[in-house]
Amino acid sequence: MTAQSIAGPAIRVQGLKKSYGKLEVLRGVDFDVAPGSIFALLGSNGAGKTTTVRILATLLKADAGAASVNGFDVATQAANVRESISLTGQFAAVDEILSGRENLALVARLRHLKDPGATADDLLRRFSLSEAGARRVSTYSGGMRRRLDIAMSLIGNSPVIFLDEPTAGLDPEARIEVWDAVKELAGHGTTVLLTTQYLDEAEQLADRIAILHQGRIIVNGTLTELKQLFPPAKVEYVEKQPTLEEIFLAVIGGSDKSDITGTTTGGRG
Ligand SMILES: Nc1ncnc2c1ncn2[C@@H]1O[C@H](COP(=O)(O)OP(=O)(O)OP(=O)(O)O)[C@@H](O)[C@H]1O
Ligand SMILES: [Mg+2]
Repeated sequence: MTAQSIAGPAIRVQGLKKSYGKLEVLRGVDFDVAPGSIFALLGSNGAGKTTTVRILATLLKADAGAASVNGFDVATQAANVRESISLTGQFAAVDEILSGRENLALVARLRHLKDPGATADDLLRRFSLSEAGARRVSTYSGGMRRRLDIAMSLIGNSPVIFLDEPTAGLDPEARIEVWDAVKELAGHGTTVLLTTQYLDEAEQLADRIAILHQGRIIVNGTLTELKQLFPPAKVEYVEKQPTLEEIFLAVIGGSDKSDITGTTTGGRG
């Protein structure tokens, strides 16, 4: 959106703290997201993922620390941040009574685009919704709705997009459809911060993965880097790579550590 985005990270979070009353949710969260990359913020229920996203989207104020999006400070340049982002929440914001095309055209009009109809058709095509475009959204599957929701959030070409649990509650097929949509986004240079509880989702999509646990980022790296934290278990003839799920449970102190390395090898020490 501006030259500011070129110099530094698309998202920078430093020492972010947030409490609700006595509940300390974020206790000093730090991470950077490179422009054009997909960054997955992973965490259990209540870890503070939505809280982080809401702070970055200027919907919530942090108690301490700093954060910038597209080079703009979320606290002091909130209007610039809002112009730079698009946010898709856990629950789709689509209008059931309208068709997919009408939903898209409506948002395009609200964003003062020159040709809302053409924008709608283009997005329907990109998200494989052309055939369903004229149908009421109430007839769409969960995956189609979520794709439409993501398509709507793209109108206006925000350089940074937040997807808070984009595939929560979707079946595996629909999740793959949404994953394709997210890859499509990043392929066009959009920076994507997504939150998820699905480890395979992070594994499939993310350039970098950060695990938020007990108020802090306890691990942050590429999948390859994360896997190097836990060397493959040696068995007699087979090398077993840990899955992200195993890494996740290990770093947050999963209850049954013997599962982490598989039954053959015992603990990693
Ligand atoms: N407005 C609020 N007032 C009080 N407590 C809140 C508020 N919003 C969130 N919390 C609490 O803060 C913690 C973090 O919530 P948050 O929604 O950020 O977690 P999350 O990682 O997004 O969880 P989930 O995976 O369930 O979406 C939770 O314990 C939640 O109950
Ligand atoms: Mg949440």
